[in-house]
Amino acid sequence: MDDRPIGVFDSGIGGLTVLRELNRELPGEGTIYLGDTARVPYGIRSPETVTRYAIENTAFLVSKGIKMLVVACNTASAVSLDGIKERFKIPVLGVISPGARAAVKATRNKRVGVIGTEATIKSSAYTKDIRSLDPDIDVRGIPCPLFVPIVEEGLFDDEIARLVARRYLKGFDDSGIDTLVLGCTHYPLLKGVISEVVGPGIVLIDSAIETAREAKRLIQTLGIGANPGAGPLRKYYVTDSPERFKRVGEGFLGREIDDIEKVCVGGF
Ligand code: DGL
Repeated sequence: MDDRPIGVFDSGIGGLTVLRELNRELPGEGTIYLGDTARVPYGIRSPETVTRYAIENTAFLVSKGIKMLVVACNTASAVSLDGIKERFKIPVLGVISPGARAAVKATRNKRVGVIGTEATIKSSAYTKDIRSLDPDIDVRGIPCPLFVPIVEEGLFDDEIARLVARRYLKGFDDSGIDTLVLGCTHYPLLKGVISEVVGPGIVLIDSAIETAREAKRLIQTLGIGANPGAGPLRKYYVTDSPERFKRVGEGFLGREIDDIEKVCVGGF
């Protein structure tokens, strides 16, 4: 048994979709969430810069005494996971391999689509993971950068979201995919619009849900579950002012964000 919290970081607000699933799957586990709101977005930055940010974020969370790290950000998971694992001794879980595994399980015709930030798609991280599990699967990746601001503006069910989705997802028209990985923290909130545009024949893979399930398995395998007790820790840190994070984040999380603090994560 291990009562220390699980650390979760993201470039900002989006990772709250992963935290929500994690808290749902593991309600007795304490969590500390770090949103790097001062340096968001990560999805347009180089792998070197994202890795530097990811290592600073991890060092901060490790200094808070976490037992395990979940990298909720797809971009950071895509380009920095190895760099984090090399430097820190705690168990580390990213969102790419759980999503990739679920896609491999779901596809019937071995044609999978992936959508994400520019950096995630450019890294081919999902493609590599999927093809390492089944080299016969064809993967097509399309970056959908405008989805991030659309979600943060709360336009989940809006004509703008539909227009942009139609424009981006047109790229899959001739692909014959039967499975689509939502490879960005924000995209689960656009599930309704995306499935309306691609049609009911395409299975949507939510990396946030898959990652939470994988975290549960990992905790059981390592025997590091928390003792049952009332009111596990729900702590939030941000690197810029908390107001916007709280306002937009409560929509992402579906509940109130109380214990929130602004911090500086550089210099670890
Ligand atoms: N959290 C990022 C991701 O999942 C999206 C936002 C950003 O570009 O930082 O890739």
